[in-house]
Amino acid sequence: MKVAEFFKKNNFHKEVDTKSLLKEFDSQMSSGLDGNIKSLKMIPAYLDIEKPVPSDTPVIVLDAGGTNLRVAVIWFDKSGKPRIEDFNKYPMPGTTGVEMGYDEFFDKLAEYIEPVSKRAGNIGFCFSYATEITPTLDGKLLHWTKQVAAPEVEGKMIGTGIAEALKKRNGIVLDVRILNDTVATLLAGKSAGMSRRYSSYIGFILGTGTNIAYIESNKNIGKVSGLPHDRSMVINVESGNFDGAPQSDIDKRMDAATRDPGVGTFEKMISGGYMGGLGLAVLQSAAEEGHFSKTAAESFLTWNDLSTKDFDDFVANPFITGSQFDQVELNDADRRIIMELGETVFCRAAGLVAANVSAAVLRSGAGRDKLHPVCINIDGSTYYKTRSVFFKSRVEQGLREILGGRGVHFETISVDDAPMVGAAVAGLIA
Ligand code: BGC
Repeated sequence: MKVAEFFKKNNFHKEVDTKSLLKEFDSQMSSGLDGNIKSLKMIPAYLDIEKPVPSDTPVIVLDAGGTNLRVAVIWFDKSGKPRIEDFNKYPMPGTTGVEMGYDEFFDKLAEYIEPVSKRAGNIGFCFSYATEITPTLDGKLLHWTKQVAAPEVEGKMIGTGIAEALKKRNGIVLDVRILNDTVATLLAGKSAGMSRRYSSYIGFILGTGTNIAYIESNKNIGKVSGLPHDRSMVINVESGNFDGAPQSDIDKRMDAATRDPGVGTFEKMISGGYMGGLGLAVLQSAAEEGHFSKTAAESFLTWNDLSTKDFDDFVANPFITGSQFDQVELNDADRRIIMELGETVFCRAAGLVAANVSAAVLRSGAGRDKLHPVCINIDGSTYYKTRSVFFKSRVEQGLREILGGRGVHFETISVDDAPMVGAAVAGLIA
């Protein structure tokens, strides 16, 4: 009861209003496609997913996600199975605590690509940030998310930056094709799900950040002229920036402490890059309002950060050891309150995720015939690893209620290394 009152006072709602979220998503998706962007950028990917993927042809793949940058060479065998070689993982430039300039950023990328630069002529680059794609698949970074510190790169062409840095470094000329990770995940779902006749495909990510891609009829993409009206195209929604989910006072407190207040406010309610920070803001507000023992309250108020993993692990098991919570002296009443607070935060996130995925599925207009469901390929550690509130199963339950209730057939799948596999597909078909 105490907890319910605390959330009410701070305008934080555990139950999400699915109906109004779906309506707002749909209306903002339409206006974004018409070029009248509210909070959803609706970025065309310029990829035709019907093109066949050549086999036995290697392509260099880059995957810049949250904290890691992965490099590999991929080729598909005759049965369409991806073969991953020369895999390497590096820290994502700009996430190591040091701010990076333009030259430094691209030179670092070129340094990571150099060892595999002679293995193929193309690079498929899964670049997981809000990026406007050109018809030739270069991409202009609109703005960073996930707290990357490389401000000079904003507004610049990513493919051109890499190609120039590589040329300067070792004289090698490579063709770089940029795509979003949700687009890559959608493509990976398609290449893995050939035997099932799906009516459409969705790529959804819930990791450090969040976002969704789906397939739209060209005739509905009003902001691009000259597209053949009988075809369709993958659209990157950039749903992490959705502003239609009401921010509570606590969300605002957490958002104010980020590098980019006001940007990605939906992402800051549901994704792994922020759930720990949001949890900390909840604990600190509750401490200030007298919901913990004196010693616990005092400790929480000295904390500067809390990882999503530690927060989730504790909410799932309030007697766990080896986390930041070891530093606090807690009684059982404190533990109970932390659990209730955390469960509310994760339940709201699950509800928002279900509404977000459903909005894209409904928008696709597909899945009306049970022979041909919509394939929802989901990637991201936050979706699969969150232990509290039966997170994944809670999202699936939400999808069954929202989509099943509207007569829409769907299937959720996961594909190993989806962003890299999808980037390889794009590198080969474009
Ligand atoms: C980025 C998206 C990306 C998503 C998932 C967000 O922060 O803006 O482009 O798809 O994270 O990685």
